[in-house]
Amino acid sequence: MYDYRGTVSLVTGASTGLGAAYADELARRGSALVLVARRAAALDEVAARIRVRHGVQVTTLPADLGRPEDVTALLEEIDRRDRPVDLVVNNAGMSAVGPFLDGRPDRDLDSIALNVTALVTLTHGFGRRMAARGRGGIINVASTAAFQPMPFQATYGAGKAFVLSFTEALAEELRGGPVRVMAAHPGATATGFFDRTSHTMDAAAADPADRVAARTLDDFARGRPASYPGRPAFRAMTWLPRLVSRRLAARLAGGFNRRSGVDRATNAPGAAGHTPTSSGRM
Ligand SMILES: NC(=O)c1ccc[n+]([C@@H]2O[C@H](COP(=O)([O-])OP(=O)(O)OC[C@H]3O[C@@H](n4cnc5c(N)ncnc54)[C@H](OP(=O)(O)O)[C@@H]3O)[C@@H](O)[C@H]2O)c1
Repeated sequence: MYDYRGTVSLVTGASTGLGAAYADELARRGSALVLVARRAAALDEVAARIRVRHGVQVTTLPADLGRPEDVTALLEEIDRRDRPVDLVVNNAGMSAVGPFLDGRPDRDLDSIALNVTALVTLTHGFGRRMAARGRGGIINVASTAAFQPMPFQATYGAGKAFVLSFTEALAEELRGGPVRVMAAHPGATATGFFDRTSHTMDAAAADPADRVAARTLDDFARGRPASYPGRPAFRAMTWLPRLVSRRLAARLAGGFNRRSGVDRATNAPGAAGHTPTSSGRM
């Protein structure tokens, strides 16, 4: 069993949603934290709440992980600190919504930069440092969306499929070694995931973020190569695409997103842009 006590965990996308829940749950289990997201003020609020609740050391490092220079600066900043990172939770992620050919592809490209490029760079950067130290772990937050093409969220589904395949391949490469990686596949989770779009989530059909976070960390502690931290129906939904043709899987997912209204959703104006942090940018 992985023991979180006395470790240092870095969580990306920790200013709200699942990332804030991962941070809280890691702190509850005794880990010190490094929290990363763009909005410095929101990060500071999460950090203050966690310090009061759990009494652990919490550092905030505002960064726009969609910018390669911020990702490099984050790795360099961690190298300057006296405590190395034991566990990285690559949680920051976003989705473009609506018909791919409508409008500009800015938010699609931003999501690839964040969900794929930043995740690979951080996994490589922290993974090498952990390998050199002889221990460490990385949790890559993918999604049940990884298991089939996602019409009207085409780049999101494709990006999460990348995270799934990449993390499974890496887990096998690293099997038996000192660094462990695990992919987490939440289903619908009650967060502000669609906040920068016209779409809204049915909160009643979504899992609470704190439960999803706790189950992910339980699975990592047990040494599982993958985590399905949502309700059982969400895991079952990942089996269906493996049993039918890829064409039918795409049809079914497209039908689901049409019924949910994602086909009519739009990305909020400016949603693709890089939100300035309220204090220093890394
Ligand atoms: N909610 C769901 O139903 C669901 C289901 C399956 C998987 N997931 C995955 O879970 C993860 C967390 O999603 P969530 O639902 O918690 O979404 P969320 O509420 O929108 O939170 C996203 C987090 O990512 C940060 N972020 C966004 N762009 C960033 C950037 N360029 N650089 C650094 N940080 C950035 C945001 O903070 P700032 O705005 O402050 O940067 C925020 O803290 C994502 O990978 C998502 O794909 C979510």
